Amino acid sequence: MHRRDLLRLGAGSSIAAAASLALGCSPEPSAPRRIFDQGIASGLHSSTQVVLWARCAPELARGDLDLRWEVSDDESFSQVVADGTVVAQPEADHTVKVLVGGLEPGRRYWYRFRHPREDSATGRTTTLPAAGSHVSSLRLAFASCQSYNAGFYTAWRDVATADLDAVLFLGDYIYESALVNLLGSARSGDALAEATTLEDYRRKYRTYKTDPDLRAAHEAHPFVPIWDDHEIVNDYDRRIFSEDPARAAAAYRAWFEYQPVWPTDGTRIHRDLPWGDLGHIFMLDGRQYRDPHREDGLPFGPMPITTHETAPGRTMLGHHQRQWLLEGLSAASTRSTWKVIGNPVMIAPLRVLDLDTPELRELDPDLPEHAGLYTNSSFDSWDGFVWERHEVLSHLERNSIANTVFVTGDYHSFWQSGLTPDFDDASSPVVANEFAVGAISSGGGAVNENLLFGSAEHGPYQPGFNFVDGSHNGYGILEARPDEMVVTYFANDATSRTSTPRPTARFGIEAGDPMVHTERL
Ligand SMILES: [Fe+2]
Repeated sequence: MHRRDLLRLGAGSSIAAAASLALGCSPEPSAPRRIFDQGIASGLHSSTQVVLWARCAPELARGDLDLRWEVSDDESFSQVVADGTVVAQPEADHTVKVLVGGLEPGRRYWYRFRHPREDSATGRTTTLPAAGSHVSSLRLAFASCQSYNAGFYTAWRDVATADLDAVLFLGDYIYESALVNLLGSARSGDALAEATTLEDYRRKYRTYKTDPDLRAAHEAHPFVPIWDDHEIVNDYDRRIFSEDPARAAAAYRAWFEYQPVWPTDGTRIHRDLPWGDLGHIFMLDGRQYRDPHREDGLPFGPMPITTHETAPGRTMLGHHQRQWLLEGLSAASTRSTWKVIGNPVMIAPLRVLDLDTPELRELDPDLPEHAGLYTNSSFDSWDGFVWERHEVLSHLERNSIANTVFVTGDYHSFWQSGLTPDFDDASSPVVANEFAVGAISSGGGAVNENLLFGSAEHGPYQPGFNFVDGSHNGYGILEARPDEMVVTYFANDATSRTSTPRPTARFGIEAGDPMVHTERL
């Protein structure tokens, strides 16, 4: 049913008119809501394809709704290069997705959805460069963790105005958690109860997308999203499919409905995106294939590593994804300069007390590998998967794969460090760099650890970090060129509506040399 028909029905309803008169209200209909009030979005897909996304307004959501979509070479749509129709249906919560093909590689495009009553905003998207083509620059924003109640999305407003090829979203787009939402205090709007059903998860996405700054970021740039835990449930692992399959199915379905991602193989989300001869992006799924945590963990405070975390074969990625990553890194290193790994959780070790010393090992030869006390949350990160982290990092060393960076979410704080295959061996070489980004709006994280350890900036982490900022929100920008990569951190206080992100640190890496040049701004 078209909106015009709905309005006609409403105007002709004598019951509705009588009710409003009885309440003393004006019989005039309220201002019509916009059809595309949840905004639009696009996603990177291939060198000839893009994914377009939209959702229709709730008052139209009683049946199917026909929409047109258009893709153009220019912002004024004088030259439409692809168009078609798509039906918004209640089965998908009136979200629609289109996989547009036949486009030219390495091109910027504009797109919109149309309904007889209204056009959507105009979005900007892009195709990947042609395979093997020479590319001189790649500009990405990377971001994670956007608890709606915890803060404002001024970081997204900033991202929307940046000149970028794409945004890598590294997880925690929504928070299912009642606790997180109860602690979030900057604004209200997100449900306080824990999400468990399909309607709960869908309502989360709808709530988050009421924010105009988030919608603006989606309109301005194609996104490449992965999930972390809070899109489903805090700290979950592969057991969820046997222990609570209905909840997992609901959460995954809502994610696929609301993210500009074209499903290719069941619930698989890990994928790689080649960027000509300049770069290759790998996006990881750190959740659905992972082995369980040990069960005796404390709710907070440092914890000793055990042979549970260091067990050979223990996996976060799962065997197939790990093989895909290792083989992909090897192949990419022969074709492109920079390897950018979108990584949902910290890979740098977060050890606060080093017990893996020659003296202590002489006293106790059975100490677990990399013995020591680690921050409480680190066993949910790669510290909980010591063998697999070593597999990945030593693969880079063994195969002389240079110019690899991890861009990481989850930790609600900014970090930078060099990664070595064996961080207890001072001669182990730096084989990659990690840039972990502050949250768009979520609090907690390293802020809590500041309480435990004094200041994260001068924290006792072993090995140390080049840069730590545990008290800001924000995002990162990565700019790659053939000879150099520059990463810049932009930081703000998301609890303030007016706190504008400002650059706080800039990191330069020359191609072929993992040494990071850090400039505090
Ligand atoms: Fe988070």
